[in-house]
Amino acid sequence: MNKRVGIFVSGGGSNMRALVEDMVDDHPARAVVIVSNNENAGGIAWARSQGIATEAIDHRPFGEDRTAFESAINNALEPYELDIICLAGFMRVLTAGFVTPWQGRMLNIHPSLLPKYKGLRTHARALEAGDTEHGCSVHLVTPALDDGPILGQARIPVDPDDTPDSLAARVLAKEHVLYPAVLRRFAAGDTSPITL
Ligand code: GRF
Repeated sequence: MNKRVGIFVSGGGSNMRALVEDMVDDHPARAVVIVSNNENAGGIAWARSQGIATEAIDHRPFGEDRTAFESAINNALEPYELDIICLAGFMRVLTAGFVTPWQGRMLNIHPSLLPKYKGLRTHARALEAGDTEHGCSVHLVTPALDDGPILGQARIPVDPDDTPDSLAARVLAKEHVLYPAVLRRFAAGDTSPITL
């Protein structure tokens, strides 16, 4: 039976789209719900156009109360009976209370070669450091931010003329290959890391 996947997005959702488009035919998983903290996320509109269920839960009414926000997400998720959660540009930090029960079943994509450059501004930081190589990582989510066992990485050379934007665009194109490749293997039970 296919694994049931929920994908969490906050923005354009290009990684979500790459994952959804890969989950066809003999793929061992299917996207059953797209979750966002932002009703206006581009990813939500696209998911609806594809007939995929969506759950938009605005974090703002919850203020600082992350636990209440996460309870609302958990309540919304319950009917979908998910096997796997993929974070794909979900811009809210999830607490240990949410993450721990999902540990080993929740993936994230991060635009750096972890453990380098956890957090934001990864492309600018790679350029500032004079790195000659940059890339992206898919990892299992643990309560620590952008931490957890790495399931796959894609590497690209840094061009001397690169700007944070040009680097981000080339890394994003790699993300769209890496994340589906990792999820396909993960859903089939293979957690050995890959390098692209
Ligand atoms: C990607 O760069 C991802 O690595 C990061 O947020 C961005 C999301 O882009 N976590 P998109 O919404 O998938 O287009």
